[in-house]
Amino acid sequence: MKGSMYMGAAPIKSELVSSYLDRFPEAQSMTIARKIYGENKLLFKDVEAVRSVVRMLRNKMGASHSHEIKNKTHYNDQPKKIIVPSSMSKPWAPFVLPKGRWGILADIHFPYHDRRALEAAVNDILKENCTGVLINGDGMDFYGASKFNRVPNQKTIRQEIQMMLKFLKDLGLPVVYKAGNHEKRLADFVCLKAMELFDLPTIHLPYLLQHGVEKEPMTNPIDITYIDPNRVIYSNHLTFYHGHEYGGMTNSPVNPARSAFVKSSRIVSVAHEHRPSENTVTDIRGKLITTWSSGCLCGLHPDWKPLNQWGHGHAIHDNRDPHNWTYTNKRIYNGRVM
Ligand SMILES: [Fe+2]
Repeated sequence: MKGSMYMGAAPIKSELVSSYLDRFPEAQSMTIARKIYGENKLLFKDVEAVRSVVRMLRNKMGASHSHEIKNKTHYNDQPKKIIVPSSMSKPWAPFVLPKGRWGILADIHFPYHDRRALEAAVNDILKENCTGVLINGDGMDFYGASKFNRVPNQKTIRQEIQMMLKFLKDLGLPVVYKAGNHEKRLADFVCLKAMELFDLPTIHLPYLLQHGVEKEPMTNPIDITYIDPNRVIYSNHLTFYHGHEYGGMTNSPVNPARSAFVKSSRIVSVAHEHRPSENTVTDIRGKLITTWSSGCLCGLHPDWKPLNQWGHGHAIHDNRDPHNWTYTNKRIYNGRVM
């Protein structure tokens, strides 16, 4: 008996059963017993005799028998491990805004911009010696890709992009371009109308901003960093997002900055609601949490919503000193920075 794996069974039987368990470690005891018996009928009296050896080798006969087993290879009393299928969920990571003095523009909605307000904003950004511009969503309207009712004789998508690229070129500053829900219209339109073209990079906004919309590529490409519409931007303790990321209907019973605080519980700057506002609270440990919403730079009375509470504005954000960063939310009224 010396050297056998299981003292209660003849060595040849336990070794044979063990070899099956090596090959089929996941098989149910009765299933593997039937297979072994079917292939070795001369060795065992019946299926139950095989199953007893299987259960003994797997330590399923109770503590009183466990001392009889020498080889514990087939013990399956380890905690069960579940392997789940791989996920299609996308990784999610914020973009970190480089150090600089940033002019913040949002909701320009080219070609429905307000010329006086936009000129006031960019001239203030130049006067403030900004080193870069952050467009916090909805720089262009993408009217031509809208799922809502459209009227004829509006600017084409190509014309909107031409307008934006000329504006950025004239500005002459590095640009971080965060896409908003309106920029997202382009990819949504392709999905809806021509899904077969979706994997062509040339029809997507990052490529178009980089290479232009002319037959010949831009000779002096603009320094643009494109940020996906679902990606937020970190700048020290301040987080930028456009506003559509939270989904659902916009509801700001007090003002958009207050709603941003309720949603995010952090220091944030949000666009999307076209209303400049600020909300400051001091938490239980004396920490100041301020949230800002930026004004828009588009016309204030569009056909789809002629009455509203919108206002123009932009912001200046300096993050060059991480311990003393600044954010100034500016309002523009009648074309003048207030
Ligand atoms: Fe928006």
